[in-house]
Order: sequence, then C-alpha cells, then structure tokens
Amino acid sequence: MSRTVRLRIRRQDGPDAPSRWEEFAVPHYPHMNVITCLQEIQRNPVDAQGKATTPVVWDCNCLEEVCGACTMVINGRARQACSALVDELPQPIVLEPLSKFPLIRDLMVDRTVMFENLKRIKGWVPIDGTYDLGPGPRLAEKRRQFGYRLSRCMTCGCCMEACPQVNRRTNFIGPAALAQALYFNISPIGRSLAEERLEAIMGDGGITECGNAQNCVKVCPKEVPLTTAIAKLNGDTTWYFLRNWFQR
Ligand code: SF4
Ligand code: SF4
Ligand code: FES
Repeated sequence: MSRTVRLRIRRQDGPDAPSRWEEFAVPHYPHMNVITCLQEIQRNPVDAQGKATTPVVWDCNCLEEVCGACTMVINGRARQACSALVDELPQPIVLEPLSKFPLIRDLMVDRTVMFENLKRIKGWVPIDGTYDLGPGPRLAEKRRQFGYRLSRCMTCGCCMEACPQVNRRTNFIGPAALAQALYFNISPIGRSLAEERLEAIMGDGGITECGNAQNCVKVCPKEVPLTTAIAKLNGDTTWYFLRNWFQR
C-alpha cells in the first residue's frame, strides 16, 4: 500500500458557524510540507473515510516563510505551514486556526489588527519621497545589526498567539508592534516621530500590559529580540514620562 499522510483539521464554515474536526489521508511524497497536504485535499476533497467534503480554506502567499500569511497552529504550536515539513511532524498532523484573531473560515484568520497596531505606533519613516534626498545618515554598526534583527518581523502573529496578555479582556497592542516601535525609534530618520510612538505605547493597551511571560520571544520564527526590545522601550517610556513630569 502506498504511504499516506494523516491530518486532523479543525474546520469552521464561517465566523459564527460551529467548529468540527475532519480527518484526511493524502498521498505522501518526498519533501512535502503542510501547504502541499492542503493542496492535495483541495485537488481531491474527500475525508479519510472517502466521504466527499469541501476543500479546506487557508491563506498563503510567499511559500518561503517571508509573508506570514500561512501561519496556523500545527500540532499545538503557532508556525508557518509552508516551512512545516511533513517528515519532521508526528502524525496525525493536527491543524487549527490561530485563536487570537477573528476567524474567516477553516484555517484562515483576519490579521488586520496587527497592521492597525503598526499604524498605531506610526511604523514608518517620515520622508518626502518627491525628490532625491541624497544618502541617509550613517548608523553605528552595532545599532544597525540590532535594527536588522528587529526588521525581520513578518507580522505573522505567532507572538500574539503565544502571549497570554493578548486576549479578549485586554486591548494589548502585543509584542510585534512594540518591537517595531523601537525599530523605527532607533532609525536616524524614523526617530523624528519617537515621542509620538512612545505616547502611543504608554496609553491603554500599551507596554505596561506586558506581563513579561517571555512566551513571545520563544515562538518567533524570525528570532526577533522581542523581550530585549520591550525592556528597552520600558526604559525609554520611563525616561520620557519623568522628563515630561519635571518639565511641568
Ligand atoms: S515578532 Fe516574530 S512572531 Fe511576532 S509577528 Fe513578527 S515575526 Fe511573527
Ligand atoms: S513578554 Fe510575555 S506578556 Fe510580554 S509581550 Fe511577550 S509573551 Fe506577551
Ligand atoms: S506562505 Fe508566506 S510565510 Fe508561508
């Protein structure tokens, strides 16, 4: 008998529909990943008992762990489906949608909140691009390297999924947006908005909601130094608060 890959997938037809589990057995071939399993189901949407079902819905784009779109919970851990190799996973491979974001259907969620959080911290460098500004200011090598590590964030949501402080009871902005606030604050051009960013993370749902559980940094597939960034921002917001207080 030819080899198969067994999958157990949490399905849900829409945000308000009840969830259910379905099991699948798809043909195995070398080097396949979780996305290729889902493509097999799409090609032949029958469950492990041979009963016809609907194709599973999921999201993906780059297929090389750069865009973050295919993030889902695989065997209990939030990670990217495109880099989850079948031969490295115990079976049945259990797939569930991220739980901290609104569900669209099956394994597809709406990560809009992460992009709204980037707007909240003004995650951009304010330059006038209508004319040539010449070369930008130089950055000390150590700072450049730290900035590069922060810049690797792909807004995938793994850190939000792992953070106990990101839940329905809080308005916490989460570790990814906090790290990006620091990233833009250490940029020689980006720092012109530094005070506005510090204000943005000092309000409701800001940095003080972080409970320092450190789950975020452990799950980040891009090894973004999240807790180092949060500690640095804690110091920056404290100094900013004290400076304003003494100037009153
Ligand atoms: S910080 Fe890491 S885990 Fe969080 S969104 Fe960015 S890449 Fe994903
Ligand atoms: S340190 Fe803990 S509480 Fe703070 S953002 Fe990371 S996971 Fe969340
Ligand atoms: S498809 Fe882009 S990270 Fe997986």
